[in-house]
Amino acid sequence: MTLSTPHGGKLVNRWNPSLNITSILKEIELDTIALSDLDLIGTGAYSPIEGFLNQEDYQSVVETMRLASGAIWSIPITLPVSEEVAQALSVGETVRLTNNGETYGTISITDIFTPNKEKEALSVYRTDDLAHPGVKKLFERGTVYVGGPISLVKRIQREKFDEFYLDPVQTREIFQSKGWKTVVGFQTRNPVHRAHEYIQKTALETVDGLFLNPLVGETKSDDISAEVRMESYQVLLKNYYPEDRVYLAVFPAAMRYAGPREAVFHAMVRKNYGCTHFIVGRDHAGVGDYYGTYDAQLIFENFAADELGISLLFFEHSFFCKKCEAMASTKTCPHGKEDHMILSGTKVREMLRNGEIPPSTFSRKEVVEVLINGLAREAVTVQ
Ligand code: ADX
Repeated sequence: MTLSTPHGGKLVNRWNPSLNITSILKEIELDTIALSDLDLIGTGAYSPIEGFLNQEDYQSVVETMRLASGAIWSIPITLPVSEEVAQALSVGETVRLTNNGETYGTISITDIFTPNKEKEALSVYRTDDLAHPGVKKLFERGTVYVGGPISLVKRIQREKFDEFYLDPVQTREIFQSKGWKTVVGFQTRNPVHRAHEYIQKTALETVDGLFLNPLVGETKSDDISAEVRMESYQVLLKNYYPEDRVYLAVFPAAMRYAGPREAVFHAMVRKNYGCTHFIVGRDHAGVGDYYGTYDAQLIFENFAADELGISLLFFEHSFFCKKCEAMASTKTCPHGKEDHMILSGTKVREMLRNGEIPPSTFSRKEVVEVLINGLAREAVTVQ
């Protein structure tokens, strides 16, 4: 049976709930991003990474999209702290990693260093514009990075959708139990619209299973909340997908909006979850106009197929064509823009928030209902 081999050869496992931490007094408070990264490192979703990047790996990732070992890695997974916190830390010591008074793990500090964030922004995000949500976040976080291997001692408690939080070991077991030899991973931070459905199902025609793996970690404030999205995915799958061909589980990482670099990162992580294929469509993980429509596909030309270890399925910009009366792309449809149903994510969010129903050629009606109700509920809670 041949699911993909984890990145780097084997799944990392830094989960050690019985680790005795009582004698460790010092602590580093994690922000939401670092907390999710800690969990994902601990369970092997980020294999072969075993901790927050040390200086050598960090520099290598920023400059070459590879760890110092040579393994492909495109997004720096870092633990930023303030200068004040850094001053109290020393290389060689092990400290607690906490959030809201709870200890989630430990780090054995090997490096404490000041990164060149300007360089990180330009290399990873291809811009240093603070209007870019990923760049903004980068500069908001601490100015000193702490590197070293971690241990995970406590899992994050989930109030809702707990059953959709699965570790790579579990998803691999599930794919195997279903007898899937080939599995295509799909990343999304949005509700699944007709274009998503089209490319997922086109891919599914040639592989055994679809792993719908929405990102539910920190996203920018105008993205639709993970909770509403989870409801929308379930209603969509129930009505329009064969149950034995698709599996839904979440990817609890933060969204970086790093476009091409993030596409590579997303592919490596899905390989760890057991996927043999990964979908990259138009402007994957992009935001605004920072990246070219197909930059996130072109970036894969930097790597050889055997070192990627996962097959990329690239898709053109897809839409509903009124003349074809079907979903299509410029590869398969000869008609002009005037016949194509294309709505921007921003436009759709605006329509939904106003209770307007986007056309069924854009989104399934069951999904729209869930979204309108969910957004109305959240608007009431926020007021
Ligand atoms: S992402 O930030 O998570 O990549 P999104 O949820 O919009 O954003 O996209 C999920 C996946 O679907 C990405 O691979 C993206 O490239 C692809 N995609 C989204 N919309 C389209 C479309 N209209 N045509 C082709 N691919 C698309």
